[in-house]
Amino acid sequence: MPGFFQTLSRDLRAPFHRKRAFELLNQLHSENLPLEGIVERAIKLGSNGWYRVRSLQVLSEITALAREVEALKPKVILEIGTARGGTSLIWAHLAEKKLITCDLLDKKGFGDLVRAFPPPGSQCEVSVMIGDSHSGAFLERVRKELNGEPVDFLFIDGDHTEAGVRQDYEDYSPLVRPGGLIAFHDIVDDQPLPTNEVQHFWKKLSPGQETKEFIDSPDQCGFGIGVLRVPETAAN
Ligand SMILES: C[S@@+](CC[C@H](N)C(=O)[O-])C[C@H]1O[C@@H](n2cnc3c(N)ncnc32)[C@H](O)[C@@H]1O
Repeated sequence: MPGFFQTLSRDLRAPFHRKRAFELLNQLHSENLPLEGIVERAIKLGSNGWYRVRSLQVLSEITALAREVEALKPKVILEIGTARGGTSLIWAHLAEKKLITCDLLDKKGFGDLVRAFPPPGSQCEVSVMIGDSHSGAFLERVRKELNGEPVDFLFIDGDHTEAGVRQDYEDYSPLVRPGGLIAFHDIVDDQPLPTNEVQHFWKKLSPGQETKEFIDSPDQCGFGIGVLRVPETAAN
């Protein structure tokens, strides 16, 4: 978390950072890049302060996931864990109709930038939702936002404790359509933080299911993406 002076300094520079961030986004939109190019830019757009867009993802892993999601031709994407909007930028280029991205923390005007992520001509509307994904009231708000539309792709990248990731899965997976995808970040065994426990949940969840793992290197510390396909026969 930034300290008092860092926050003050960011606040004072926010108008400049905002202007620059929108310029960089417009530049990205004008380049009409292939998916790989969008993913690279999502990892580090180049903007700063409250408007910094970036993602702590491994390029090969998130590119592989983005290709899987693209193949789904998703109409609706739901993400738990917006952070600096890196992955939201990718999903906003892939969702035809709606992207809902959720986070505990409100980052001042950052939501305005995230809502502008879809490329020109896209029909995708972005909802930036602030709140605790584990609260029943928040789940209800997400349901309302979906307005009965099934989710094609759910990205669970919020609370990384085992209980937290399990709860996100149990609460939000029923919103995903049969044949849709659910992805989890940080599934490798060796994790840099003791609170990163997604790997334990993933090990229990994946046996007997249709899954894929995107792991850049077998002995890496942290990262790794697990993807599960919701069975076609699943009742919603
Ligand atoms: C690893 S970051 C997400 C990174 C982002 N998906 C990306 O790769 O660009 C995790 C985010 O989840 C948020 N988060 C943690 N617990 C949450 C909860 N219970 N509800 C909503 N958001 C949560 C944190 O505030 C943090 O911004």
